[in-house]
Amino acid sequence: MQIFGAKGKVKGAHQWRGVIEEYRHRLPVTSRTPIISLREGGTPLIYACNLSELLGNNVWIKYEGLNPTGSFKDRGMTMAISKAAEDGAKAVICASTGNTSASASAYAVKAGMTPVVLIPKGKIAMGKLAQAVIHNSSIVQVNGNFDDCLTLAKELSENYPVALVNSVNPFRIQGQKTAAFEVVDMLGDAPDIHAMPVGNAGNITAYWMGYKEYYGDNISSQLPAMYGFQAAGAAPIVKGKIVKNPETIATAIRIGNPASWAQAVDARDASGGVIDSVSDREILSAYRLIAAQEGIFVEPSSAAGLAGLIKYKKAKKLPKDKTIVITVTGHGLKDIQYALDSTKKPVVIPVDLKAAAKALGLK
Ligand code: F0G
Repeated sequence: MQIFGAKGKVKGAHQWRGVIEEYRHRLPVTSRTPIISLREGGTPLIYACNLSELLGNNVWIKYEGLNPTGSFKDRGMTMAISKAAEDGAKAVICASTGNTSASASAYAVKAGMTPVVLIPKGKIAMGKLAQAVIHNSSIVQVNGNFDDCLTLAKELSENYPVALVNSVNPFRIQGQKTAAFEVVDMLGDAPDIHAMPVGNAGNITAYWMGYKEYYGDNISSQLPAMYGFQAAGAAPIVKGKIVKNPETIATAIRIGNPASWAQAVDARDASGGVIDSVSDREILSAYRLIAAQEGIFVEPSSAAGLAGLIKYKKAKKLPKDKTIVITVTGHGLKDIQYALDSTKKPVVIPVDLKAAAKALGLK
């Protein structure tokens, strides 16, 4: 398909084409794969002056909330749905804490497939639920947590004609590894440390895969230490055992038995990194800080990476003068509850200049 501009000329030369077209030679697609894309990826890597000062390092934020459905999931979903389309799938299924269901729904309808999503009852953010609803998903709320939903989704995909698009689907990880390519392409090399939240552990697995691939091909001269952070009430990898009833305000990472557990441990150990936990309080404080000081609005779960680095800095466990990339995984508008809770209510004034100036403290 060609893309035509206003005067009928082929255009689009300088628009980012989506992760499959940009990194086609590094992804398992062929000329027979129908590419289902919303032009995901190509997200900004933003130098964070204030956080750099605070952490004593050069800190860059990979702002994944700017993907088409507002989270990093789109990178993997373009691959999973394109491959499902190649296989002739008519319906796709996923378990989700919200973002995967939003992404799967959008990409599935674009491909003409029916999206089916299983979500833990009452435990996903309203913005994400709205996305699944507006994209016409068949939504089932399960009286259980994410781990229960994933077990059910796997069983359904094994017994009925629905393709599973959770990150246990290897094409998801393949798509998500492109985020590491973008970081290296932009910085000119891999960072010293890469920090991010960990839930089902697909993303840390994917970044590590991407970094290793570029390093193996001599595109980067080093590998980063991978720093993953789980929420304290949902920290199975840190504890070394399944958490039966995970609890955290960071609902996106409220997971007690991550599917990519072993791969995350491998990324940690092989990279000389860490997987640690942060409390809900530390998460919310980092969530407010990045919005207040860097102008970047993320959802609470997305702030876990920054929260972890602040915790390490306080404990004097963070090296100095290194290049650190922090992935912030999802957009703040998806989950506004804690943003509103933390803000003073704006005062109400009449339409009057003096009253406005007074209310604003302007002299
Ligand atoms: N951040 C956000 C905003 C997420 O939605 C997720 C996972 C993670 C971090 C953790 O990434 O699972 O690859 O370790 N959300 C999944 C979902 C589980 O269903 O949307 P992970």
